[in-house]
Parts: sequence; C-alpha cells; structure tokens
Amino acid sequence: MKYDVRDIKLADEGKKRIVWAAKEMPVLRQISERFLKEKPLKNKRIGACLHVTTETANLAIALKAGGADVYLCASNPLSTQDDVAASLVKHYNIPVFAIKGEDNKTYYKHINEILNIEPQITMDDGADLVTTILLKRKELLKNIIGGTEETTTGVIRLRAMEKDGVLAYPVIAVNDALTKHFFDNRYGTGQSTIDGIIRATNVLFAGKVVVTAGYGWCGRGFAMRAKGLGAHVIVTEVNHLKAIEAAMDGYEVMPMSEAAKKGDIFVTLTGDLNVIDKRHFPLMKNGAIVCNSGHFNNEINIDALKQMSKSVKNVRNFVDEYTLKNGKTVCVLGEGRLINLAAAEGHPASVMDMSFANQALSAEFMVKNSKNLEKKVYTVPEKLDMEIARLKLNAMGIKIDALTKEQQKYLNSWQSGT
Ligand code: ADE
Repeated sequence: MKYDVRDIKLADEGKKRIVWAAKEMPVLRQISERFLKEKPLKNKRIGACLHVTTETANLAIALKAGGADVYLCASNPLSTQDDVAASLVKHYNIPVFAIKGEDNKTYYKHINEILNIEPQITMDDGADLVTTILLKRKELLKNIIGGTEETTTGVIRLRAMEKDGVLAYPVIAVNDALTKHFFDNRYGTGQSTIDGIIRATNVLFAGKVVVTAGYGWCGRGFAMRAKGLGAHVIVTEVNHLKAIEAAMDGYEVMPMSEAAKKGDIFVTLTGDLNVIDKRHFPLMKNGAIVCNSGHFNNEINIDALKQMSKSVKNVRNFVDEYTLKNGKTVCVLGEGRLINLAAAEGHPASVMDMSFANQALSAEFMVKNSKNLEKKVYTVPEKLDMEIARLKLNAMGIKIDALTKEQQKYLNSWQSGT
C-alpha cells in the first residue's frame, strides 16, 4: 500500500488515542454499525482532505465500514497528528499522505496522491481538493459523483465557484448543518482555541485583554470561553448586526486600529484576509500575542510583520517572537495557522461526533441521490440533521418533552388568537 507518514512506528500510540476519541463519538459509532451491515458506500473511492486527527480517524473507519475505499491527506500543513496517520495505515489499512509540518510543495504533492486514486467522492475541509481538480485536474471530473465540505471557508469558496458557473459537481455543505456549526464552530472552536493558546504559551487568561476578530459562530464561542476564564474581551467586526450582537453579549466593540493598542492576546476568526495588517503591529503593546483560528493562514499579515521586524526568534514550540524596529516584540503562534490544531488537538471528539456524523450521512446521501442532484452547493437534508440531534441527545442521556396531539393541532392552526 502506498502512503506517506512521518514514522510508522508511532502507530501504536495513535491507535490508543483513536480508541479514546471513539468513546466520545456515539452518534458516529451507531452510523458505523449500520454502515457495516448495509454497506451503503460499497466500492466507492472517497478522497478525503481533512485534518488528520483522532476524530477524523474515526470518520475514516466508519466510511470504510460502509464499504468505501478511503484515502486521506491533510487539509492543513500543521494539523496532522503523526501517530494517528501511522495507525490508520498500520492498523486500519487506510492510505494516508500527511506529515505534520510538511511544506506547501509536499502538501500539494499529498493532495495529488489522493487525486491520483480518481475519487468518486471528494471530502474537503477548506475546498482544496475541489479547487485543485477545477484548476489543474479537470480530467478527474468524469468519475466524480459529488463531494462534501466541512468548513465555513470551504463553503464560501464553493458558493463563489457556483456563482462563477464553474462548480462541476454537487457538493453538500456539511458546515451549514445545524448540528455542525452550532456546536463544532461555537463550542469546539471556543474550547480548542483556548487550549491551543494555553499549550503554546501557558499564559493566564484572567485579567488579560483578549481581542476577538470576527463574531461568527467561531468568534462567539471563543469570546464566550475567554470571558469565562476572566479575560476582558474586545470584539472587532465588519458586520453591523454581529457587532450589535457582540455589544449586547457584553463585549466592547471597536475597530482593530483601536483594539490593537489595548490587546494582550489577539485571535482572528474571520475567514478574511489581513485582518491584522501592517498598520496594526506598531500600535500593539510590547509582547502582544497574536494568533489565528480561521481556516487559512492569511488573516494575519505575517509577511508584512517579517519585513518590518529587525529579528525573529523561535522562543518556544509554536511561538515566534518578532522584534520590531521600534524595539517592541510581537509573538506569533503556530505561524498564523489554525492554533487549535497546530498547538493543540483540534475540537474535542464530542462535537466532532456530530460534524462527522453529518459527513458520513452526507456521503451516503450523495451515493443514493447523485443522479438527481445538480452542480450546486446543497445543505444537509433537515431530516438527517434532526436525526443526528436526536441521536446525540439520546447518547447524552437527556430526555425532552414531546408535543401533545392538542399542541400539534394548535401549532398547525391559525384560528385562535387573543
Ligand atoms: N477541525 C477542528 N477540530 C478538528 C478535529 N478534532 N478533527 C478534525 N477536524 C477538526
């Protein structure tokens, strides 16, 4: 079997951690058990470009249980857990092409290894597979029945493809499922971003001024958790509605040019470019910590920071200290890449359970319905989304009320009022 991982000898450690994560993924487990019996993905080649973590391993195992041939590469050069990659190869017979810290050239070499298997389904986190196919490997389109997309940034790219009329096959926006972004983006990013910053720096949040750039689901989650640790949180936004929401949630809201002077820790979670830019660095306090939890490493203008610095020193794992010409230092974490996956382990298994249940059911849906789908971005069918919610709540041991007949009738009527 062809594969490319850091060290196959790491496999046993990876397996222990994959099994540990599985305990917190009861919904995916139930899907996997059904897949094993029904084989809905039989003989389908799935090319997956996802963060190679213990949770992703459990998804790959579930897809394989469903009969698919799964091939995995990383969706970020710094997010791979090398022991997990090794275990998937050694214990589960799943070819993986991913090494933590791989350079850009290797990253794309690995993407092309996945594409060489001529996937019928693409599973993306950030749309790099789809984009590479459209820009460089159009010959593969003839085999592809559809794809899925895990994250906000990827969905934005796909919608831009659809708008430009170049999207060449149907893709399900897993990110837009309620059981995905309500939990993964908010509680997952909230906790794992804090985890990444703390593992990289061991900094105390209590009493710090924490600047959250972006108040989407990820920003909301991060701000909430930073506040819970005793930080004073400032939010920056470009959207009027979200800015009102942040203000009413109790945060200070201001432009980055003002927040830059006040923050001790800065986190970008916007999905946009140069949110912390050249003009902001000289305004920052000495020793400011800057990191990103958005999909791409372009939210912080690190090239500009490099140019305006007289030196750069790696002072700890995942911490680069830039000394500006004015003598002040700025510490960039994880090279501006997703800090929760670069310095920590990404979102906990309990939320990835729902995200990856959506992935598994979307792959099954794609196989069953591809002939009826157009070259468009689709949301996960509501029925599947709600079924995942039901299974999760059940697994959490939480019972809820059901509507009575009388209530159902009332909600479907209009006659009775004041
Ligand atoms: N994205 C964020 N956290 C993740 C995780 N633990 N596994 C896969 N993708 C992720």
